[in-house]
Amino acid sequence: MKRFEGRRALVTGAGSGIGRAAVHRILAEGGTVVAADVAEDGLAATHRQAEADGTADRLTTVVVDISDETSVRDGVGGAIAGLGGLDVLVNAAGILRSAHTERTTLEFWNRMLAVNLTGTFLVTREALPALLATGRGVVVNFSSTSASFAHPYMAAYAATKGGIQSFTHAIAAEYAKQGLRAVSVAPGSIASGMTADPGLPEDADTSWFVKLRPALGQGFAGPETVAGVIAMLASDDGAFVTGTEIRIDGGTHA
Ligand SMILES: NC(=O)c1ccc[n+]([C@@H]2O[C@H](COP(=O)([O-])OP(=O)(O)OC[C@H]3O[C@@H](n4cnc5c(N)ncnc54)[C@H](O)[C@@H]3O)[C@@H](O)[C@H]2O)c1
Repeated sequence: MKRFEGRRALVTGAGSGIGRAAVHRILAEGGTVVAADVAEDGLAATHRQAEADGTADRLTTVVVDISDETSVRDGVGGAIAGLGGLDVLVNAAGILRSAHTERTTLEFWNRMLAVNLTGTFLVTREALPALLATGRGVVVNFSSTSASFAHPYMAAYAATKGGIQSFTHAIAAEYAKQGLRAVSVAPGSIASGMTADPGLPEDADTSWFVKLRPALGQGFAGPETVAGVIAMLASDDGAFVTGTEIRIDGGTHA
């Protein structure tokens, strides 16, 4: 399948996990991609994999801190200029931190919001003019199963993901007449950098997490399982999908 031939995509969080898998999926399907991340070493590893796959001629990387307005303006603006426009934005960058809510500092809370929610807003705002100019732009945002199903000790994280879902519904309606589609994916139980160590408090009551097991398979799935859904949503196969979220959790919350 070559659903992204002639299409230009920007993927944040592209130095690890699901963002990286989305980069390689879009490249494999013929797209041209700018991979953005705050982690330079992660981007280098993403690039090395593209070299091994023979797709690196359609990949460039850029270091961007999505929580920093100037970094987004320079990095995302430069990426779109280099691509000569933008058809697909995948906002995968994010952080997960856990804490007892009564011990959550304002600094911790604000950092979660700054990266996950404000970062998604800043990148989307910077990309919107180019996405609208194509008349068929697509934004894929990253919610989480935690937005709709309880994840104790992750109240700040969950709140950012609920905010991203709401943000996505609003822009889907606001720009639908200009051909833009905006959807969220809500992954759960995907092996990645952040799920390798969710940083639960040492005295966390982990009995709750026994419920958070996929019904399918033998445990966590790989990030490519989410990348395949992103590719469907961002391609013409998702042409009638907007203003909604797709849960990808192996039936954990079935
Ligand atoms: N893995 C899961 O089960 C799961 C579940 C629900 C939601 N998600 C969401 O999926 C998305 C991808 O996460 P992942 O699971 O691949 O984790 P990951 O930790 O492997 O990847 C996250 C990437 O975001 C980057 N990043 C962090 N802060 C950044 C910043 N300020 N600017 C730019 N880049 C930044 C990191 O460097 C990293 O490369 C996240 O939004 C996450 O919240 C994942």
